[in-house]
Amino acid sequence: MQTLRDRRVLIGIGGGIAAYKVCELISSLFKMGVEVRAILTQAAREFITPLTVTTLSRHPAYTDRVFWQPIHHRPVHIELGEWAEVFVLAPLTANTLAKLAYGLADNLLTNTVLASSCPILLAPAMNTEMWEAQSVQRNWQQLLTDPRYHAVGPSAGLLACDRIGAGRMAEPAEILTSIQSLLHTGGKRDLAGKRILISTGGTREHLDPVRFLGNPSTGKMGLALARAAMHRGAAVTLVHAPITGEIPTGMRAIPVVSAAQMREAMLTYFPEADLIVMAAAVADVKPAEYAEQKLPKKLLPPTLPLEPVPDILAELGHLKQPHQQLVGFAAQTGDIVTPALQKLNNKKLDAIVANPVDQANAGFGSDNNQAIFLDARGNQQTIEPCSKLQMAHYLFDFVSSKGQS
Ligand code: CTP
Repeated sequence: MQTLRDRRVLIGIGGGIAAYKVCELISSLFKMGVEVRAILTQAAREFITPLTVTTLSRHPAYTDRVFWQPIHHRPVHIELGEWAEVFVLAPLTANTLAKLAYGLADNLLTNTVLASSCPILLAPAMNTEMWEAQSVQRNWQQLLTDPRYHAVGPSAGLLACDRIGAGRMAEPAEILTSIQSLLHTGGKRDLAGKRILISTGGTREHLDPVRFLGNPSTGKMGLALARAAMHRGAAVTLVHAPITGEIPTGMRAIPVVSAAQMREAMLTYFPEADLIVMAAAVADVKPAEYAEQKLPKKLLPPTLPLEPVPDILAELGHLKQPHQQLVGFAAQTGDIVTPALQKLNNKKLDAIVANPVDQANAGFGSDNNQAIFLDARGNQQTIEPCSKLQMAHYLFDFVSSKGQS
């Protein structure tokens, strides 16, 4: 299994109530084998203590008190700045944001920002009025013009000030996916300018309003693809049948239920897309008739007449233009390569992910996956068990490196 063992993540904690959620982030990173160092601003220490952070990261927390106590005879901000592979600022306060926008450095955290060159992930958190203040928005937009800075959130929700609105820090799990992407890409946005259309989830073919034919897909693989593409700079449209999990801010999400609705949505967004990945588990058949009202048990038929639904991917394969790339999935058991190659050819795909759904650590509902990538030029790459996000990155690497993206 691919791991993040010994990767180096520096966390700069600002003075906001969301600082308590950063404790969970540090704990998750540590459990994944990541080496974590953390800096607390003076204001952050009003919310959580250096002892909390030291305990969770298994390393002494850095504060302005140790600013002038050199590590290995070198200043702390230089040493930490050179050490970090990714620097996460969470929660990012209006005050620190303003300092960064103007290049000010009056504490350990802001000095370390200036003394480092790794990608910086910003996770703002503040009250809605503060977040929407003209000065804050100006500073935010200003900062994002620097390619070094990457954003996660903020999202909308219930805030500590009892308001419901924008300004809530992204959840630790969401921040974690951005960190994982930055560790993979080193901060490169190699999909910037690309429009990527992804389908995910399991379609449902209803017999009546409360009964349907479905499958166990949770949509996690497609969500991971959408996140990875977005983190690499693409404009993402996600057409999703019912899924488990949050759709992150920053992408266009189109909810559908049936294969017919998915087909319609895919055909709508297909012409503008450069790369299309069909990760959805689409039904192959549907009940021949639909009852508008719930059928009483005694009226349920003993056998269910079925009819086929259109093969969306095959249809897209026929419509595909030379500048477009089309990637499918083949969920298989047993021999996965032979049927996947047949699907690659029959549906006129550029690449296919042969997915052994009968293996532990792969397939429906799992957070992990494994696969063999195959493309129309005869290239083949085996992906050992890894997280779905990691596999998403490998897939984009695969289609880009073959000169097709
Ligand atoms: N697919 C689709 N529309 C369908 C069925 C499948 O677009 N009605 C897509 C899936 O999203 C996937 C690919 O086709 O990307 C392969 O799906 P899979 O279910 O593995 O193959 P099928 O073509 O349905 O063949 P079979 O079920 O016989 O293996």
